[in-house]
This record gives sequence, structure tokens and C-alpha cells, in this order.
Amino acid sequence: ANIELPDQQTRSAAAQKVKISIYFATWWALNVVFNIYNKKVLNAFPYPWLTSTMSLATGSLMMLISWATRIAEAPETDLEFWKTLFPVAVAHTIGHVAATVSMSKVAVSFTHIIKSGEPAFSVLVSRFLLGESFPVPVYLSLLPIIGGCALAAVTELNFNMIGFMGAMISNLAFVFRNIFSKKGMKAMKGKSVGGMNYYACLSMLSLLILTPFAIAVEGPQMWAAGWQNAITQIGPNFIWWVAAQSVFYHLYNQFSYMSLDEISPLTFSIGNTMKRISVIVSSIIIFHTPVQPVNALGAAIAILGTFLYSQIHHTCGGELAALCKAVKLPGKRNMELRCNMG
Ligand code: 3PG
Repeated sequence: ANIELPDQQTRSAAAQKVKISIYFATWWALNVVFNIYNKKVLNAFPYPWLTSTMSLATGSLMMLISWATRIAEAPETDLEFWKTLFPVAVAHTIGHVAATVSMSKVAVSFTHIIKSGEPAFSVLVSRFLLGESFPVPVYLSLLPIIGGCALAAVTELNFNMIGFMGAMISNLAFVFRNIFSKKGMKAMKGKSVGGMNYYACLSMLSLLILTPFAIAVEGPQMWAAGWQNAITQIGPNFIWWVAAQSVFYHLYNQFSYMSLDEISPLTFSIGNTMKRISVIVSSIIIFHTPVQPVNALGAAIAILGTFLYSQIHHTCGGELAALCKAVKLPGKRNMELRCNMG
């Protein structure tokens, strides 16, 4: 039995690798499909506040049906859970709507190039708002991220300030979503809600927050006129595009949260950056986005910078690791999930 043990270990490590590869491939594929349908919808129907609301509503409905039919088991939550989820949901809502507004104004690839700068926002917010300090190499790794994003932005042929700011606000909001999640983790005192149900609850709360704002910013009158116009322009297929963007939005997010249960925060951040590469490349091909060589160079530097950041962050230990240690949540996988949420 002693001789067989390393073999068994090798086999289970290989099986785990295959499983994670399948998770990653599915997450990226779902995300690529979402991004394509989302842009097709926004091109014909430029109302990002409504499309963002519909994505959250569809996901919420899918999960309510899954709970009612017992396809998925409903989570046991209490008021404390929803209270700690509230700031996470506010940040998730802002990050989601800002990214969608961005994509309604600029090429999908441009939004995702700017969004690849998220690690830089994380370090800057932690440094200047929370007073955390990092080793010098971490700061140095931000230079290619910020420089690459800046180069890509100034050479973007279809630059639009709202599109640029939307992606920047989305980065900032998602950093705050992570910080609030970390604070929430402590308050939850080890109570566990799995990745799928955590994301379901987040969708529902975000939907409640977003709906009044969507009505105030755009409203039914604009939607009705825009919808009529889109149907005339595209035909009945437009409804399928809307359904696809909504369903795929929920699926890719749900899948990423479920995957987090299996991977470390570092693997997650590398996976998220690689996801953006597949989105950038596929959207450039599908939408025939014009790209200049210097523009592509900026994107490549920014993405390489993110990899560099992940490596250095990993080598230096990382604030996330320190936080996970401090929180002392029960169970490794549970801890990783919560740290990833956070
Ligand atoms: C959204 O609409 O929420 C954004 O597309 C999210 O982007 P991300 O999941 O790729 O960060």
C-alpha cells in the first residue's frame, strides 16, 4: 500500500488538473459568448442600464426556479448574511453597470484591456485608502500594467471618455467589492454558503439595488422606443440575443464562483486575465475591431504586467494570504472560496 500511495497521489493530482482545466475552459467560453451577445445587443439597443438589470433578473429567476424545483438546494441565510452581503452587492452592481455602460460606448476589446488593469487598482486602493504597504517589486509590477493600459488607451482609434471611465469605475468598484467581501467574511464567522448560492444571493440583492436606478436613468419610455427600433432593425432574433446575453452572464459568473471553490486566489487572478485575452482576441475577430500595432502592444504590455504582478504577489506572500490567515476560517477549500470572493 505504501508503494501505491505516490501513484494514487499522482493520479488524483492529474484528475484535479483536468477538472480545473475544464472549469477554466468553460468559464472563459461562457464569458466569450456573453461578451459577444452583450455587444450585439448593445449595438442595436444602447440601453446598458436595462441590459444589466435583465442579466441580473434572469440569473435571479433561474436560481429561484432551481431552488423551487430542488435542482439546487436553497441556502440557509439570516439577516446578518444579507447585511454583510449588502455592500458587496452595491459594489457588484456599480462594477457591472459601469462595465456595461463602457461596452455600450467602446469596443469590447478596449473595455477588457482597461479591465486587465484591475490588480493595479487593488494595490493603489489598499495603499492609499487602507494604508497597507507592499514590497517594492509589487509597486514596480504596476508600471507595465498602468503604462500598457495608458498606451492602449491613447492609441485607441474609437476612444470615448464614457467608455474609458466606465471601465475604470468598474475596476474600482470590483476592488471595493473584494474589500467589502473580506470584511463580510469576518462577520459571517465561518458560516458557509457555497459559490453557486453566494452568487445567486448577490444577483438578487444587486437586482433590487439596480432596478430603481435603471428606471431613473433610462426608463420604460426609452426602452419601449429602443426595443421597437431594435426589433425593426434585427427582427425577432433580437429577443434571442437578449436571452443569450442574460443567461450567459449568469452562467459565466456562477461558473467562476463555483470554480473558486477549487482554486487558489492566485490561480483565479491569472485565470481572469487569461479570460480577458480570449475575450479581446475573439471580439476583435468577430466585430472586425480596427487595431493599430502600437495599440496591440499597449494591451500586451498591460496583460504581461498583470502576470508579472501575480507572480510577484505570490512570491511576496500577498495581503490576501495574510488576511486568510488572520480570518482563520474553517476548512481550506471554504477559506479559499471566501478569500476569492473577497
Ligand atoms: C459585467 O458586465 O459585469 C462585466 O462584464 C464584468 O466583467 P468581468 O466579470 O470580466 O470582470
